[in-house]
Amino acid sequence: MKTGQLYLTGFMGTGKSTVARCLCRYYNMKQIEMDRQIEVEEGMKISQIFKEKGEAYFRKKETEFLEKIQDQENVVVSCGGGTVMQSRNVEIMKKNGKIFLLTAQPETILRRVKNNHDRPLLEGKKSVEAIKELMEARRPKYESAADYQIATDGKSDRQICEEIINEW
Ligand code: S3P
Repeated sequence: MKTGQLYLTGFMGTGKSTVARCLCRYYNMKQIEMDRQIEVEEGMKISQIFKEKGEAYFRKKETEFLEKIQDQENVVVSCGGGTVMQSRNVEIMKKNGKIFLLTAQPETILRRVKNNHDRPLLEGKKSVEAIKELMEARRPKYESAADYQIATDGKSDRQICEEIINEW
């Protein structure tokens, strides 16, 4: 087992938070969930931050947060789906750990995000086509940031965790 930070990244609904919880349960690591921490610091939900302060403000908070937790060891950081879109964030992450990209088919993602209303970027766009479009636009950045890619469709959380730990 390595030291440093294990980052989980990937599109919305690829299971980053669930897999992070699972990793922490089995492998005695601490979970840091970026979005939840930013919500606590800001005292409002992600959707409200987007609405009241704007996406650029939220993106700045993501970078500040990654900088703030740099010294923590033995942690699994579940990132937001857009965290690796900023190259400064990828730089910080590469310096402090390894980046695991979780992937899933757009159909799987749609099923998972359908009834969740705290994803401002998908509000009013919950269709396979819209998810595919955003996913394709983001793919180059996801793939170039990733140290490892883990496909999640049809796998149990435990299986996904084992794959990650074998690479880590
Ligand atoms: C975002 C994904 C969300 C959240 C914010 C922006 C994105 O996180 O950070 O709504 O740009 O893909 P999840 O991937 O946990 O939904």
